[in-house]
Amino acid sequence: MQSSFVDFRISITCLGTDLLYQGHFSLKSNSSSFKEKTQNFFRKAISNHINVAEDIIKFFDHHSCHASYGFYSGPIRDDGTLIFTADSYGDGLSGTISRYNEKEKKIERLKKYPVENFQLGRIYRLTTLLLRMLPGEHEYKTMGLAPYYNGPQKNEVKKIFEEMQVVDGTDFKFNKKIKNIYDHLEENLEQFRFDHIAAGLQAFTEDLLVDWISNSLNEFSGNSVVFSGGISMNIKANHKISQISNISKFFVSGGGADLSLAIGACYNEIENTQGMPLPLNNMYLGPPIIYNESNFENLPQKYKIYEFKNTDEILQRIFDGKIIATCLDRAEFGPRALGNRSILADPRKRENVEKINRKIKNRDFWMPFAPIILEEYQDEILVNPKKIECPYMTIGFDTIDGNEKIPAAVHRADYTVRPLILNQHHNSKIWELTNKFYKKTGIPALLNTSFNLHGEPIVNSIHDALSVFERSDLDTLWLDNHIIDKI
Ligand SMILES: [Fe+2]
Repeated sequence: MQSSFVDFRISITCLGTDLLYQGHFSLKSNSSSFKEKTQNFFRKAISNHINVAEDIIKFFDHHSCHASYGFYSGPIRDDGTLIFTADSYGDGLSGTISRYNEKEKKIERLKKYPVENFQLGRIYRLTTLLLRMLPGEHEYKTMGLAPYYNGPQKNEVKKIFEEMQVVDGTDFKFNKKIKNIYDHLEENLEQFRFDHIAAGLQAFTEDLLVDWISNSLNEFSGNSVVFSGGISMNIKANHKISQISNISKFFVSGGGADLSLAIGACYNEIENTQGMPLPLNNMYLGPPIIYNESNFENLPQKYKIYEFKNTDEILQRIFDGKIIATCLDRAEFGPRALGNRSILADPRKRENVEKINRKIKNRDFWMPFAPIILEEYQDEILVNPKKIECPYMTIGFDTIDGNEKIPAAVHRADYTVRPLILNQHHNSKIWELTNKFYKKTGIPALLNTSFNLHGEPIVNSIHDALSVFERSDLDTLWLDNHIIDKI
């Protein structure tokens, strides 16, 4: 064990009587026997820990889980759909291309990319660290910073990244002279300002991914594309990918980083044993609202509780300029609030950005809020000629006069949005509220951001919701069949 290390991620999920286990190894030794030994170690440990037979524990490959999750959780089932995965690393790889074979009802891998050849995830992560933000967590902030600078330094920075990593056809090549990515970045980016670096990195990322996917569409032919893995969380790159001319269908599922690997493992197993896996209908996979007798005991005097009658009451509060928190039905899976654990506000009022930041979010000043946009009326705000489905806020879009129509929910530098394009079947309550807002204002959108204090997870239970409501200056909590106002 001296010269080897193991980086082991574990997801366990239960499907019928089998336990599906998604492990990830990063082995310096490259030793298959070491991997086997480690698997055996964990097989025994899991078996002992949760008291199940060793032989029902199965191991699945990291990028196969990304591919299965990305494809089967979404709505596309076209023969020949190309499935791309990209991340920092998992089971020795940082990317794959697969194709869905409709006849065999199977995902078949076409290409795989060893980490040493495809280092985009690590480059993005370490540049985020260079910008003094948390690697593996704050990449979205680097991405959000990028549109603020569009001057000549952007291309200079981009060239530095292009000297590190290129795509040649469908192959990736990493500059082998670079022994330490962070040191290389530090030496070469020293004279550039933080926004120049973010802009150059993002432009490099977008071009690299667009070239990779375009070249692969030519080589493997196909026009339906699915993207998964940690890098699929880059909604601005997804925006550019969605514009590739020979893509007609494009889907990026929610939570495409490693958090969804356990679901991918389930899909893998269903594909192997039971036939066609069903898509996820929505991302409301979290716990439902469960009342506890003590929930409403000891509420502060300043709270007034009403019984919820209809969405008109919420709408009126939005028109009164109030900031509304929601705690409805089942919580969302993944990092995005999709209405059930959200903060909602009037997107037409730019001052709501300041208001929400002051009352609860304290968000980094450059980061935008996002809109919920009704699918039926999306053409009034979004540029989405291919009618790409985006129910989980995973793709950026250009807007039509977004800065005039929904100034509080667009990116302030480029007026793009990261929308939840909402269908009535996804969330009927939020759809009804947004539709009523549309009927009164002509704007088919609401501002939507996650219900959490800065640096805390999104609320889950009633207890969490009341706690955050109390510790913030939010005006109203729409809690299941109650409305709680601060007076
Ligand atoms: Fe991954």
